[in-house]
Amino acid sequence: MTAPAGALEAGDPNAGLAPVIAIDGPTASGKGEIAQRVAARLGWHYLDSGALYRLTALAALRAGAALDDEATIAALARALPVRFSGERVELAGEDVSKDIRAPEVGGAASRIATMAALRAALSALQQGFRQPPGLVADGRDMGTVVFPDALIKVFLTASPECRAERRHKQLIAKGFSATLPSLLRELRERDARDSNRAHAPLRPAQGALVVNSTHLTIEEVVDRIVREYRRRDG
Ligand code: CDP
Repeated sequence: MTAPAGALEAGDPNAGLAPVIAIDGPTASGKGEIAQRVAARLGWHYLDSGALYRLTALAALRAGAALDDEATIAALARALPVRFSGERVELAGEDVSKDIRAPEVGGAASRIATMAALRAALSALQQGFRQPPGLVADGRDMGTVVFPDALIKVFLTASPECRAERRHKQLIAKGFSATLPSLLRELRERDARDSNRAHAPLRPAQGALVVNSTHLTIEEVVDRIVREYRRRDG
């Protein structure tokens, strides 16, 4: 979460009705980068909802909790001591920005994300980030479940091969080792798990602007979303 004025923590989930732009899509579709740039252009807050699933997974792995222990994992999420400060993601004051990007944490996040009790806990937390002047939130269910009244809902896709290549570049840049074939396999598995789960499966929200970014630059996608916002905002 980058706040217009410094860091931001979750507040009262029922506090406000600041406008929301929801950007959902599959793994490595570019939604994080795009959502951050849209937020920067509008001077709004940014919420990386996937980071909350990753933080919960990291907290569970560190606590030695079984990844199928729904009650324990939901309890960890309810008390998640998270703080976003620019690019920095903190868990109980510790900078875990890099730790949460490790592939094994992403895999664990995708697995625990199937749990209804965890999703309910994190939805309430996410709603607390809806603060003026507005919020750009990215994830899987921002437009379908967490912010159903979002002003604009975007569903961002790209071909699996293109997404695997983007993720490969990202991981190498962050100092993780990864190979393209294994990333493509993991990405297809993650897509299947995210799309087929019973609770909040990945799918475009009704009325969503569906954008396939395979042949578009990040700036072109950002422009399209900001233009849509200006058009609707009158
Ligand atoms: O980096 P990537 O797009 O793969 O994942 P992420 O956005 O950091 O989210 C990590 C995992 O959390 C995803 O694989 C999803 O299963 C889950 N997630 C979710 O279920 N709902 C969200 N709103 C965000 C993430």
